[in-house]
Amino acid sequence: MKFSSLTDRVKGGAADVWDLHYLAKQAKERGEDVIVLSVGDPDFDTPERVIDRAARAMHDGDTHYTSILGHQELREAIAARHRMLSGQAVDAEQVITTSGAQNALFACSLCLLDVGDEAIVLQPMYVTYEATIQAPGATLVPVLLDAEQGFRLDRDSLLSAVTERTRAIFFASPSNPTGVALNPEELELIAEVARQHDLWVVAESVYEDFVYDDDFQHISSLPDMAERVISIGSLSKSYAMSGWRVGWAIAPPQMIANMEKLALCMLYGLPGFIQQAGAEALNHCKDDLQRMREVYRQRRDMLYAEFSAIAGLEPLLPEAGMFMMVNVLGSGLSTPDFTRALYQATGVSVLDATAFGANAEGYVRISFTVADEELQEACRRIKTFMEGRV
Ligand SMILES: Cc1ncc(COP(=O)(O)O)c(C=O)c1O
Repeated sequence: MKFSSLTDRVKGGAADVWDLHYLAKQAKERGEDVIVLSVGDPDFDTPERVIDRAARAMHDGDTHYTSILGHQELREAIAARHRMLSGQAVDAEQVITTSGAQNALFACSLCLLDVGDEAIVLQPMYVTYEATIQAPGATLVPVLLDAEQGFRLDRDSLLSAVTERTRAIFFASPSNPTGVALNPEELELIAEVARQHDLWVVAESVYEDFVYDDDFQHISSLPDMAERVISIGSLSKSYAMSGWRVGWAIAPPQMIANMEKLALCMLYGLPGFIQQAGAEALNHCKDDLQRMREVYRQRRDMLYAEFSAIAGLEPLLPEAGMFMMVNVLGSGLSTPDFTRALYQATGVSVLDATAFGANAEGYVRISFTVADEELQEACRRIKTFMEGRV
């Protein structure tokens, strides 16, 4: 039987790179002595009062269909958060709730791109972008961020990616995997190109609550950008709620109306009790967020100090998020060989960062989403492994 061509277009994503991760995950589930640093799911529990609110909401009967755009309480909480973090004057009417940031990204791609259009994406990029952009038949045009420059955005690379077919620029800042949070000059550069060529900008920021040093900047608050920016976020990382699937898009009214039409036939609203739980997180769990951010920051600093002291490894200090990029070429191994050899010798699984683009060659992505003692043990094993190699 024949399937649609869409099924081919959504295949992308460097599948074999994940094999090792799945192997490690299965071994861990069997109780073997492995440490999985190849995935980015928060190791914290969802805050207790979020769970309580969901349970209460279910008992109170919020178990029926909901409005497609989302509960007003949640949309207001999302708008208030965005106003506070970005300075952009948005209200709840400019918010649509989605099933995680991923669903919002996919909906943006379907609402903004046509067959033959091009969308620029900063690379290394989160693994689902390729399939997401290709789904409507558009072409992904990568802007290769140079590892030598710490994966920062360079003016010429961005300008040379623009063609008459370009419709949008998609980026995640803070980035997974690089941990780079775009600075005001980089954001202004993207804004300048978008204004000049009349492009949409899809700015996704699921790690924005975990920016460790400077303040995080939103592109939507730059002059004349509100009309062309879609800001995407979620509760997955900030409140350790990846499994609840609460995300959103904040966009100009016409885009929200289009996303609503799409959501009507694709999703038909998020569960009401989940939305109540999401509102609870945003309105009442700032302390949990601060606590988790502080733990991630300490882990980041610990990992950076440890890896900097290991001959043959060159870590990049992430400005944000829960991952560290480490150059491992000093081991004398290619990244796929490094990840395999490390896992076989020590049981520590890390991800070959070429999963996020070939320009991440030489790097592995190491998550700090495991408990501190486990992370320290992983560092000891990696150190011993490297001592045997250099
Ligand atoms: C950059 C980036 N975007 C989107 C997602 C998906 O987030 P969500 O759980 O909100 O769909 C992830 C998850 O790891 C991510 O790293």
